[in-house]
Amino acid sequence: MTIPDPLLASNDDRRGGIQVAGRQDLLESQLAALFEVSSVLSRSLLLSQTLTEVLEVLCRHERLTKGMVSLVDRETGDLLVSALHEDGVAPFESVRYQPGEGLIGRILERNRPWVVPRLADEPRFLDKLGVYDPQLPFIGVPIRIGEEGAVGVFAGQPPASDTELHQRARFLEMVANLIGQAVRLARMVEDERQELREERDKLRRVVRGKHGFDSIIGHTDAMKLVFDQVRQVAKWNTTVLIRGESGTGKELVADAIHYNSPRVRNHFIKLNCAALPDNLLESELFGHEKGAFTGASTQRKGRFEQADGGTLFLDEIGDISPAFQAKLLRVLQQGEFERVGGSRTLKVDVRIIAATNRDLETEVKAGDFREDLYYRLNVMPIHMPSLCERIEDVPELARFLVAKIAKMQGRELRVTDSALRVLMRHSWPGNVRELENCLERAAVMSEQGVIDRDVINMAGLDVGVADSDPPALSASSPTVDLDDPSLDERERVIAALEEAGWVQARAARLLNMTPRQIAYRIQTLNIKVRQF
Ligand SMILES: Nc1ncnc2c1ncn2[C@@H]1O[C@H](COP(=O)(O)OP(=O)(O)O)[C@@H](O)[C@H]1O
Ligand SMILES: [Mg+2]
Repeated sequence: MTIPDPLLASNDDRRGGIQVAGRQDLLESQLAALFEVSSVLSRSLLLSQTLTEVLEVLCRHERLTKGMVSLVDRETGDLLVSALHEDGVAPFESVRYQPGEGLIGRILERNRPWVVPRLADEPRFLDKLGVYDPQLPFIGVPIRIGEEGAVGVFAGQPPASDTELHQRARFLEMVANLIGQAVRLARMVEDERQELREERDKLRRVVRGKHGFDSIIGHTDAMKLVFDQVRQVAKWNTTVLIRGESGTGKELVADAIHYNSPRVRNHFIKLNCAALPDNLLESELFGHEKGAFTGASTQRKGRFEQADGGTLFLDEIGDISPAFQAKLLRVLQQGEFERVGGSRTLKVDVRIIAATNRDLETEVKAGDFREDLYYRLNVMPIHMPSLCERIEDVPELARFLVAKIAKMQGRELRVTDSALRVLMRHSWPGNVRELENCLERAAVMSEQGVIDRDVINMAGLDVGVADSDPPALSASSPTVDLDDPSLDERERVIAALEEAGWVQARAARLLNMTPRQIAYRIQTLNIKVRQF
């Protein structure tokens, strides 16, 4: 290594035997110091801690006092003191040097070492730290990171007796190089962490958008009530019980509650209680210790532990056995449990959201569901209306679901108004899930990407099950413009028939046809006329 050192004070380089022997000792002690410094630096990425230790090592081995490492703050460009080897000094956090300022700032700016045989003789010295001994020499060297140049300054005071300041500066440069490597590594890790943090926050925003209120469709009063309740309950830690038939959106609502709650930064863990037999359910929820049962080869955390600080969604809670109900009750009451095969009692802070499509009240009466557990869960019930109770939401839901399917299939999809009318006549025992499945089938079958009435019928919807007159399409779903040039003849006739409630004479008037004409069209276009 060479030091460009016009600033180095000249020292006699006498070559007497005693000096050579002294130098040998010096080299050996420096080598030992270097070894220790490198192992300290590789031990941890906590720079403030390792740098302080490095300065201690140098004081011990090299009698280097007032060791100081300052690093450029990447935001302001100023030098900030990262470590100082001096007991009992005032906090150095407020000390900063601008590039070019005083001795330290100048070493950084010039990116060169600086040796002062006696500090008192150096007028540019500012002594911002107020710790230096003016009678001692002073050496400062830049800390460099590869191409980036100087990112900091490492300085200290060798003993007054030091006759080898050249050699000493060279040694401190070596230490500074090691420090530079450690700084580079720490910064790389920090940058990566920062990137991950940003990525995580971005994903969180996306997830929140996906699981927020916008993904729950419905404008009927029944749904407005649900939205109000979700909004209210999300803020608190209250246990929520979501009731409603299968496919009504219970899980969707559970998502919305968690992702709009203060627990959003912690885990949201889901478990379908109906999917597992008791023994598996228990180890799934509470975890197990190593060797708790055959196959338990390692210890495992249960969902309760995973959800600590967050939310646990227990789906199909009405399906658990009486024995398991008792176990669950204890956690809900005390927040305590043991892992399967373990004796240590664990405590967690978990918010519970449960869901069921069962009539729990009847089950309680019949003795199939514990009453005390029922009350524990039923703190804040939310009732999801079935789709046939809110059939007016079908058009908006269908458009939303078709857009969702289109995104999935990576193509454009459109649902016609005549199709929407057909969908509104169905009673949807499988609720939104059934609607979604029906539309997905229809989408698959529609080559042109237009889901019309026929495609829906082909997709296997039995319109005949409707048991009441369909309500009119709401104002937000405009009726078909019969002059719409994009409609073909067949669609136009169907639209008119829909509009006219399938009264042919009325449809004929809408199309400016005679009843005979429309009857002929219906026949030739092979339109199946439905009687309601
Ligand atoms: N109000 C709604 N708006 C949009 N999609 C819904 C709505 N309700 C349900 N879904 C969709 O229907 C399907 C079933 O919903 P889910 O929450 O699993 O129902 P449940 O848990 O009540 O059986 C899901 O794909 C969900 O995204
Ligand atoms: Mg469900």
